[in-house]
Amino acid sequence: MKNEYIPYPAIIESIQKESFDTKTFKVAFEDKAQALSFNYKPGQFMQVSLLGVGEAPISIASSPSWKGFLEFTIRAIGKLTRAICQLNPGDRIYIRGPYGNSFPFEGVSAFGGSLPAPAGKRQSDSSGGKGRDLYFIAGGIGLPPLRSLINSVFDQREDFGRIKILYGAKTPDELCFREELKTWNKMANTEVLLTVDKLEKDWKGNVGVVTTLWDKTDMTTTCGVAYVCGPPIMIRFVIERLLESGFKDENIYVSLERYMKCGIGKCGHCNIAEKLVCIDGPVFSYSQLKKFPEKERAIA
Ligand SMILES: Cc1cc2nc3c(=O)[nH]c(=O)nc-3n(C[C@H](O)[C@H](O)[C@H](O)COP(=O)(O)OP(=O)(O)OC[C@H]3O[C@@H](n4cnc5c(N)ncnc54)[C@H](O)[C@@H]3O)c2cc1C
Ligand code: FES
Repeated sequence: MKNEYIPYPAIIESIQKESFDTKTFKVAFEDKAQALSFNYKPGQFMQVSLLGVGEAPISIASSPSWKGFLEFTIRAIGKLTRAICQLNPGDRIYIRGPYGNSFPFEGVSAFGGSLPAPAGKRQSDSSGGKGRDLYFIAGGIGLPPLRSLINSVFDQREDFGRIKILYGAKTPDELCFREELKTWNKMANTEVLLTVDKLEKDWKGNVGVVTTLWDKTDMTTTCGVAYVCGPPIMIRFVIERLLESGFKDENIYVSLERYMKCGIGKCGHCNIAEKLVCIDGPVFSYSQLKKFPEKERAIA
């Protein structure tokens, strides 16, 4: 019988430095058969480990359509993540998964999909879009799981309406995927808005928390879908603004972080009320979240 806890070795093929404490690792399974049979969806995570150091959940930051490798963006904040950030190309890590649910998005592009269709004939609030308008709102290290989804959406760009990506970090140096942000901003009917908490160097963009970007763009919608990932306090204020802008509870999706051990629903470490974030999440709609007792919502 397959032991769910046994990880697979994977080799680091390359490393991209994102900021002073954050790196993106491109890794490939050592076992080619495992690589070929491996599938995942945007929003899922892997349990990533180093022998003798530890294991932690890390979001898959690459798009499922990029075959033959996975990407993880890791911030060095504790024992394992610091050790991984010291590694070099050619070094080995261990991974098991994919785990957790995913961001619903395929049904968003068509009438009658997995999300409720809005009233009226058009899905999009904006002109020209076939599918719904999508809004991605991320803070800090919250962008990696959304990056997997954003690139999947761009693989079928014509199926969606307007796309807005709102991203904030503490300082300009802490913004991840800087080149990709520029590429996304050039995509049709797409707007990327950046902000930093603290003005540094020659930053000419917005300064303030991510919700201050509401003043820079039109966020009003009746049927847009929002995907949110970031620190709990950011999530809380973003949800408030989304609701004020007309988003419906069921069209707001949040990816939550919880301290995890097993990742597969056995240990109970990751519970929020009666839900286990590792198997029922990490993605929850606001309709689900607001039913959790307030002190357990994990959105501050
Ligand atoms: C679904 C999911 C996806 C994630 N994706 C990413 C990602 O893409 N990139 C990334 O960098 N991180 C990600 N994380 C966060 C990462 O898994 C944690 O930060 C992990 O704890 C890091 O392990 P570590 O050994 O380096 O740090 P740890 O030694 O675990 O310490 C990390 C932090 O957790 C605190 N902590 C330690 N033990 C406990 C405990 N028992 N209870 C509560 N808090 C504790 C520490 O004080 C410290 O602030 C994700 C987490 C989840 C749940
Ligand atoms: S991490 Fe063990 S039940 Fe979720």
